[in-house]
Amino acid sequence: MPPFNEQITLEEVSFGYKRGGKLKPILRNVNLKIDEGEFVSIIGESGSGKTSLLSLLSASIKPQSGEVKIYDKKISSISEKHLSEYRRDIVSTIYQGHNLLEVLTAYQNVELPLLLKKIPSQNRGTIILRILKDLGLADKAFQKPEELSGGEKQRVAIARAIAANSKIILADEPTASLDPETGRSIMEILESINRTNNTTLIVVTHDMSVAQRADRIYRLVEGNIEEIDPIKLSQSLQNQTNISDKIYLEG
Ligand SMILES: Nc1ncnc2c1ncn2[C@@H]1O[C@H](COP(=O)(O)OP(=O)(O)OP(=O)(O)O)[C@@H](O)[C@H]1O
Ligand SMILES: [Mg+2]
Repeated sequence: MPPFNEQITLEEVSFGYKRGGKLKPILRNVNLKIDEGEFVSIIGESGSGKTSLLSLLSASIKPQSGEVKIYDKKISSISEKHLSEYRRDIVSTIYQGHNLLEVLTAYQNVELPLLLKKIPSQNRGTIILRILKDLGLADKAFQKPEELSGGEKQRVAIARAIAANSKIILADEPTASLDPETGRSIMEILESINRTNNTTLIVVTHDMSVAQRADRIYRLVEGNIEEIDPIKLSQSLQNQTNISDKIYLEG
């Protein structure tokens, strides 16, 4: 059998939120194919539906029409029992609002996916401390989210997704609350997982320097998804930089 590369397929997916009995369309007949091991970035204005798209992929919401398929299997046909396995083994999400459990320490938050996977306790500690160390959080392991800065919470959320060792990482603005230097090093860690484990990496971002790092870049506009030529994106960024340099120099 040939290797099965196509991992994620969206076929004519439409989605919207109902408000006051009316459906507000967010995604309109979206088609998308992502191969195993790809690094894809998704850009688009605030409210364009980026988080909604990730929620469809994590099976947290369902489309009104069309199909989301993973390894050619319709998510809509997965039973409730298998959906929890899907969320445990196939996909892990780094949420925009970190979504950490406030009563647990950083260490315990990162431990959650390992407990779900029934990793023996003697192995868990080594894994957790290595990941926390890689993310510069070794000295924060036993602090609770309320005792961490925004950027540190973000990094704990990333550590938890890394610990899950899933096939797909969905990252919603993973660098938003980080300084540029930390943001870059977090992206390098996610990219090294993408390369070495062949983990598919889907990053939603407003930061074009993050978007540009991906193999493919998509933009959501008015409910449609379009692929962006990375060269054109970098040229338009270059032009913007030149304009701001000019304004700066002339100012
Ligand atoms: N639970 C909800 N109920 C009703 N409308 C919602 C809900 N969640 C999101 N929306 C609306 O759906 C649209 C798309 O939201 P979404 O969160 O997908 O946008 P986004 O592209 O991720 O934006 P941002 O860049 O600000 O995070 C927005 O107009 C938002 O107000
Ligand atoms: Mg969002």
